[in-house]
Order: sequence, then C-alpha cells, then structure tokens
Amino acid sequence: MKIVLFGYGNVGRAVARLIEVRRSYLERIGLYPKLVAVADSSGVAINPRGLDYSKLEEVKQKKGSVGFYPDCGKIGVKAIEIISDRLADADILIEVTPTNIVDGEPGLTHIREALKAGLHVITANKGPLALAMPSLLELARYTGREIMFSGTVGGGTPFIRFAEKCLIGDLILGLEGVLNGTCNYILSSMEGGLSFEEALKKAQRLGYAEADPSMDIDGWDTACKIVILAVHILGIRITLRDVYVRGIRDVTEKDLAEALRRGSTIKLIGSVDSMGKATVIPIEIPRSSPLAVPGNLNALTFHVEDLGSITVVGKGAGGVETAHAILKDLIELKARLRSRSMAT
Ligand SMILES: NC(=O)c1ccc[n+]([C@@H]2O[C@H](COP(=O)([O-])OP(=O)(O)OC[C@H]3O[C@@H](n4cnc5c(N)ncnc54)[C@H](OP(=O)(O)O)[C@@H]3O)[C@@H](O)[C@H]2O)c1
Repeated sequence: MKIVLFGYGNVGRAVARLIEVRRSYLERIGLYPKLVAVADSSGVAINPRGLDYSKLEEVKQKKGSVGFYPDCGKIGVKAIEIISDRLADADILIEVTPTNIVDGEPGLTHIREALKAGLHVITANKGPLALAMPSLLELARYTGREIMFSGTVGGGTPFIRFAEKCLIGDLILGLEGVLNGTCNYILSSMEGGLSFEEALKKAQRLGYAEADPSMDIDGWDTACKIVILAVHILGIRITLRDVYVRGIRDVTEKDLAEALRRGSTIKLIGSVDSMGKATVIPIEIPRSSPLAVPGNLNALTFHVEDLGSITVVGKGAGGVETAHAILKDLIELKARLRSRSMAT
C-alpha cells in the first residue's frame, strides 16, 4: 500500500506514528503500508522507497515543514502537485488538511483529483463531505475507487463502522446524538455553575476548544457530522445548507440550573430523520436519557425498525483517536480490495 498523506498536523502526525508503531501487526495481517509522500502547507517530502517517521518528526519539529526532509523534501511544492504532476506513484490518499465549510478547500480538490487519478481516499476532513458528499460518492463509484471517512464522526468511537457492520440489514429510521465534545464539555461545566464565557475559557485552557471555537459552539461541526451520517447511513442526499443549525452561545447557566431542577439537562443534539429533516439545536433532555453523557464524551442513538433505540457512547475527536479510525479504514480498505479481487 503506497500512501500519500496530505496534512501533517495533529491527525496527520498521529497517523504516521500509528502506522509505524503498528507495523509488525499490520504485516502479520498482510498489510505493508509505505508513506511515499507527505505534504503540509509549506512543502512536500517524497520518496518512492518510503519516508522515515523519525526524520519526518525531526524536520517538522525543528524546521516547521516536511519540505525540509533531507534529500527528499521540497519547500514551496503544493500537495496537489503530487497528484496532478504524478510526483509519487501511490494508491491511497490520506487527506487530513483543515476542515473548511465555506468551499471545502483545499481538501475538496485533493479528494476529487485523487479519485480521478485512481487513488482510494481515506479522510477525516469534514468540509468536503459536508458540502459535496453525494457527488464525491458518485465520483468514487464512477472511478471504481473507495472513499472512507470513519474518522469524521466520533473520532475513536466507531459510530460509522457500528452502523455498517452491526446494523447491517436493519432499517435505520433516524439518528440523534451528542457529536461535539467541546460543546458537551462547556455545557457540563455550566451545569456546575460556570458562565458560558468561563466554561469556554476553561475548555480552551485544557485544549478541548480551539482559539477560534466558532465551528464547535455555533453548531457547524455537529452539522457536518449529521450530513455525513445522513448521506452514508440513511442514504439521504443532503448537504450542509439543508441543516437547521443553532449553537450553544445563547444557553445560560440559569437555563441549565432550571433544567437540573426538573430532572433534565441541556445538550447540543444533532439529529436527522428518514424524511431528511436535519437539525442541530440545544435541547432539554431527561438526565436518564442515554444521550445525557458527561464531560467531553460523544453519544449517538440509532432508531432502528423492530429493534428500538441503540446508543453508542465514547470518546469523540482527538488527533490520536482519529488516527485510530483512519488505521481501521486502511485495514477495511485492504479487506474490500481483497474481496473485490476474489470476485473477479
Ligand atoms: N484533531 C482532531 O481531533 C480531529 C478529529 C476529527 C477530524 N479532524 C479533522 O482532521 C483534519 C486535520 O485536523 P488536525 O487537527 O490535524 O488539523 P491541524 O493540526 O491544523 O493540521 C492540518 C494540517 O494540514 C496542513 N495543511 C494546511 N493547508 C494545506 C494544504 N493546502 N496542503 C497540504 N497541507 C495543508 C497543515 O500544514 P502546516 O503544518 O504547515 O500548518 C497541517 O499540517 C481536519 O479536517 C479536522 O477537521 C480532526
């Protein structure tokens, strides 16, 4: 498996590390992943024989870009040139550049061009999927390539794979969940008496919230995840602009205290039903609800015909957690390709 990795930040670095530390296990199950190219915003490193993880780390830490990789690095070369100018012979793109919900770039172009060039794609980048998932899935089908994205929702908690594998053959009627750990942490802290601003500052201090937290607290991160779940699991063709979104900025500690007195709590709930009605709204729910998870946990309830409601709970996003999801996609990709080749 010759891999190009676009994005060498929290997730990209954790992916490169995980491939390295799991190498002997991967080889035992017949996978021989080789990072033949890595790109960040300033440059690229390319080596058909495979890039060395410790050297990538050294140049990233000391010099700020993989483009300084000895002999194989190039500063100023753009990631997309690796694909468009065929600078590396590869069969998989792992795309983990920043999520952009305005135009999906640069990830959208990276993914489209990779599929057109015959690469399979694994991504944790929500922007391209939230804006153009139906067309990306069609492009993947047309080119006969796989596009996998289990790291986009739930980080290390396998919401997507649970639906694919464990609810196979079941009719999923709708989904609702707590899908943003930052918002959940802030709301949980406000329940303890902090104001919104105090809770946000605490989340930022602990590294749970970004310096610019608007993607999370205004509900857009949850909305992206709802789109991905709706398209992939319910088969509904929606994009981000079909989701009604209201974040948690207007929730006060008084609202939470009153909810608490009523035996309830307030959570930012993303939901979608089988008619395609998709919303992200702070909602008061009973404290006994399986979605009333504390701290920065995530939870997703699947409403399933005949089976009722099934809830999966676990840790949400995080660089390392997301890298684990990407590694599982890599293993699943290999299994799909094996079964394809056995069928022909
Ligand atoms: N972190 C999480 O917990 C998490 C969880 C789930 C999904 N995700 C998604 O995973 C993706 C990566 O997240 P992250 O936390 O790793 O972000 P990050 O730390 O900001 O890293 C982004 C990386 O992309 C690189 N980059 C930016 N523009 C680029 C371009 N045009 N070409 C090539 N590389 C480019 C950056 O380069 P420089 O290093 O030069 O800045 C950096 O290496 C995002 O889409 C995010 O939404 C993240």
